Amino acid sequence: MKKILVTGGTGYIGSHTVVEIQKSGFEPLIIDNLSNSDPGVVDLIGRITGQRPLFEQIDLCDLPAMQDFFKRHHDLEGVIHFAAHKSVGESVKHPLKYYHNNLGGLFHLLQCMLTHKTARIVFSSSCTVYGQPDQLPVTENAPVQQAESPYGNTKRISEEIIHDTAKASHLKAISLRYFNPIGAHESGLIGELPIGVPDNLIPFITQTAIGKREKLMVFGNDYNTPDGTCIRDYIHVSDLARAHVVALQRMTGEDSKQSHEIFNLGTGRGYSVLEAIRTFEQVSGVELNREFAGRRPGDIEQVWADTTLANLKLGWKAEKGLEEMMASAWKWEQNLATGIMNK
Ligand code: WQD
Repeated sequence: MKKILVTGGTGYIGSHTVVEIQKSGFEPLIIDNLSNSDPGVVDLIGRITGQRPLFEQIDLCDLPAMQDFFKRHHDLEGVIHFAAHKSVGESVKHPLKYYHNNLGGLFHLLQCMLTHKTARIVFSSSCTVYGQPDQLPVTENAPVQQAESPYGNTKRISEEIIHDTAKASHLKAISLRYFNPIGAHESGLIGELPIGVPDNLIPFITQTAIGKREKLMVFGNDYNTPDGTCIRDYIHVSDLARAHVVALQRMTGEDSKQSHEIFNLGTGRGYSVLEAIRTFEQVSGVELNREFAGRRPGDIEQVWADTTLANLKLGWKAEKGLEEMMASAWKWEQNLATGIMNK
């Protein structure tokens, strides 16, 4: 089978993508330094697909270990690159940690790919590169703005590094700009595993509903939006995962003429924080203890995707609605409470 390296494959989006890769007949090889994920995810992926994927604990910043891996797996069909630190707040406090890890890891990965002529890379980028767009929905032609955080800056710089490297070599690349990935696999066996207090809205909602958190703070209700709270384009993580396989197939099928293509991955529909909360309450039957707080520094007011390009060129469209996203997130949180990760 065609082998696909998945860096960061034990992480939230990585693990869901490994499931979709196995379903599509590719053989995923996971490397991950486990800095923000649990190795137990590998067995749970095996329970979902019936095939436990290969996993090696490797840090992309460890160049000798990366070179050794590529020597042992020099026939890779492609790479899906997730491995990176991803906390907006932490990146503001520790910028060098983010620049070193996210960019240093990418340097090593690309060097190894060029040495071993691995021809394709799908890169995990983010709508954060748009900042607060002037026009909505935001298209891939929208200007990339000065990032609100070092995390966002590493995504912008990584896209540029990949762009220039692909232009100067045999490499074909697709950068996927995620909007807000949420939810969990329908099996309830894998999902988001925030370490410590969650930064993101949905895990904070589900942890409040299950009783792990006392109260949900809604950061700001004085924005220039219909109900005063921020608007985001939430997309089910399984829809997002499927897009990575489609992007790979586009490159293996040689359909993409350009050396580097960029696609928005969203649903094309924005929901406010209050709408997200209400949808969760309707779906779960749990009323959330919440109150309004001040705005969170760095938050943009509203963003949602123009998905025309991905629909047209990838033939991909998000299928799951907000209710299903919330139901899957709630099922996962309840499974976590039964100790699914400790079995
Ligand atoms: C969504 C909305 C908050 C928590 C970030 C990154 C993005 C990606 C996803 C990594 C905002 C509000 C949140 C809470 C709240 N990261 N909120 N109370 O900031 O849109 O995107 O995470 O891939 O790149 O930028 O997501 O879920 O943190 O926030 O009111 O306890 O929910 O203010 O308006 P965000 P989020």
